[in-house]
Amino acid sequence: MSESISREAVEAGVGAVTDPELGRPLQELGMLHQVELTGSDVGITIELPTLAYPGQQRLAEAAEAAARKTSAEINKITVSFVQTTRGKQSGGDIGLRVKNIIAVGSGKGGVGKSTIAASLAYGLKHFGASVGLMDADVYGPSIPHLVGVSGNPAIKEVATPDGRTVERMLPKDAGGVKVMSIGFMVPAEQAVIWRGPMLHKALMQFLAQTDWGELDYLIVDMPPGTGDVALTLSQAVGIAGAVVVCTPQQVALLDAVKAIGMFGQVKIPVLGMVENMSGDIFGRGGTRAKAEEMGVPFLGEVPAIADIREKGDAGQIAALFDEGCAARDPLLHVCQRTAIEVARQVVDQPTMPQLDIL
Ligand SMILES: Nc1ncnc2c1ncn2[C@@H]1O[C@H](COP(=O)(O)OP(=O)(O)OP(=O)(O)O)[C@@H](O)[C@H]1O
Ligand SMILES: [Mg+2]
Repeated sequence: MSESISREAVEAGVGAVTDPELGRPLQELGMLHQVELTGSDVGITIELPTLAYPGQQRLAEAAEAAARKTSAEINKITVSFVQTTRGKQSGGDIGLRVKNIIAVGSGKGGVGKSTIAASLAYGLKHFGASVGLMDADVYGPSIPHLVGVSGNPAIKEVATPDGRTVERMLPKDAGGVKVMSIGFMVPAEQAVIWRGPMLHKALMQFLAQTDWGELDYLIVDMPPGTGDVALTLSQAVGIAGAVVVCTPQQVALLDAVKAIGMFGQVKIPVLGMVENMSGDIFGRGGTRAKAEEMGVPFLGEVPAIADIREKGDAGQIAALFDEGCAARDPLLHVCQRTAIEVARQVVDQPTMPQLDIL
């Protein structure tokens, strides 16, 4: 072993590498997991903050270059990765074991919130995360239809830590994603007008009395417009952040601006904006420009394609991630950008904000 190769020097060198996604040094992010010397070979292990991390290749190259600089005598450098899902354990006081709750909303109906929410769930699962999908659209639950599951949820008796037995609803398994919707209990055509306390109670039951198990991500499909649901959620549990969906159409964008303001009021950080049905008759690119103007991350464009509507109608949103499907790459990109913004929130704001407006 050579005298001039130092583990400390490699650690310092690689630790100073800026993570291409989070824009901070690996050391500061706690991502440098291990440096090992074997003779004149160096092994570097980096811990990625999400399974959906997009920049592995670039990061490996940067780490290798930084290690190489520390000594001319280094022979082989191997960079390997371990992956975890970082999270704020945002279960609140109601016993949820969910690392990150992601709300999907918009100011306007029909822009594709539910489609994007379901796609986020399957896309994050595609990367290996454990994912739940909760339909909080109590006015028009469409998740059961999109993912092809229906019927009353089964009830299970669960023992609590203090020795009681309580009943919990089991979410339905839809292709590996745990799904819960008000639509499982109320027929879709029976439009229920939930208001104030009723709505709050229904949502709380959903969150607290569903046996979600341990999840990396819980995706929540929000109803359009009003802040009631957002307020209830952010009071009850910590939300990692919100994804705001809009179409390129100007009116939808104005609504998205309102939605961003609404999330701000209830202290839910905005993870970013998605342009859905991009390239439709309404054009393309408006969302990116608006996101830049508002200083909000842009999470990607999802084109208007028949496949998305057809798979949604057939209850097969999961199939959008099949090889060769035109929606696959744009959707995976949105999932990766969202996962990175969630990880950024965890780093920037390790504790949940306190709501003081009530
Ligand atoms: N990228 C897309 N390309 C083609 N069709 C799409 C796309 N995104 C969504 N759709 C279709 O647009 C319709 C509305 O989508 P979705 O139900 O997801 O919107 P929403 O915002 O959740 O609506 P609501 O406000 O009623 O809850 C659906 O028929 C869906 O299949
Ligand atoms: Mg919807």
